[in-house]
Amino acid sequence: MKNKITVSAPGKLMLLGEHAVVYDHPCLVTAVDQRMKATVTLLDSFDLEIEAPDVKVVGYKKPMVELSMGDIPKGAQFVEIAVRNLLESDSGKTRIMNGEIHGIRIETSSEFSSLFGFGSSSASTVCVIKALSELLDLRLNNKAIFQLAYQTVLDIQGKGSGFDVAAAIYGGTLYFVTGGKVIEPLDMKSLPILVGYSGIKADTVILINQVAKKAKKYPDVVEGIYGIIEQLVERAKVAILEKDWQTAGELMNLNQGLLESLGVSTDKLSQMIYGVREGGAFGAKLSGAGGGDCIVAFSPEDKREEIKKNIEKAGGQVLDIDSNVEGVRVEE
Ligand code: PMV
Repeated sequence: MKNKITVSAPGKLMLLGEHAVVYDHPCLVTAVDQRMKATVTLLDSFDLEIEAPDVKVVGYKKPMVELSMGDIPKGAQFVEIAVRNLLESDSGKTRIMNGEIHGIRIETSSEFSSLFGFGSSSASTVCVIKALSELLDLRLNNKAIFQLAYQTVLDIQGKGSGFDVAAAIYGGTLYFVTGGKVIEPLDMKSLPILVGYSGIKADTVILINQVAKKAKKYPDVVEGIYGIIEQLVERAKVAILEKDWQTAGELMNLNQGLLESLGVSTDKLSQMIYGVREGGAFGAKLSGAGGGDCIVAFSPEDKREEIKKNIEKAGGQVLDIDSNVEGVRVEE
């Protein structure tokens, strides 16, 4: 049996539908060519070892019997809980009983900064589950990997739609409904995407809670907003499939207006978005929970340079990324 494997999974970028997707509505998400990598080794010792220098986890080691107990450093939480969830699953338990698993060493590294909001935690969760599935010959399919990885996100964050986990597993560009009720890959080649980073790290859970507070005070209003966001997502899905970028961009602009009304945009994000639109983009909006992280735009080829300049003028950083890329895969 092989005892070492390296797996990689892409980061993600929300195109339309954030926040509404937490509450049983659809969203559109694309996988980006910034990948997370995990090398997993089965050990003879009975320890869990994690090296994740990108998130300041160095030399972390504990006995396997203490898995998921005690204080876990923030950067190690997703990986450790993913291991626990896999080993507690039916197929994982059998392998433990057969004595096939003693200890596990996990080394992760990322092609992107965890600050960008590309979903490094969910991508590393997916990598670890896929790697263990391969090493232990569990033959988990994408749906089974999704369930374990999504459970891991819920165990740690409490809330979340799982869209980031789906993008890391399936790759491409997905039409996705809460909890993986629908995961539909869109049959398309590329998106005319441009991404700007605001320089501010957003806290997804805080923003979800902020919106939940608003929904508690104005339930019918906020549910109405989610309903309109759903309509925008449905139309954008069609526009993207038809390569009608003008319409897709206009729908992004409408989506941004609704995110503003939910209170999750910031001055910086808005300035970047206005700059991008003035530069000739089809449309632009924040991407993800809001409060910081990135903006996403669709842009005509001949306007890209102008738009990039405007992102920088607004104090943002242009991120050169490609989208619609391959999902989780074994590297070696
Ligand atoms: O902040 P991000 O990039 O992880 O995006 C969060 C998107 C939300 O819809 C607010 C939450 C979710 O899990 O769907």
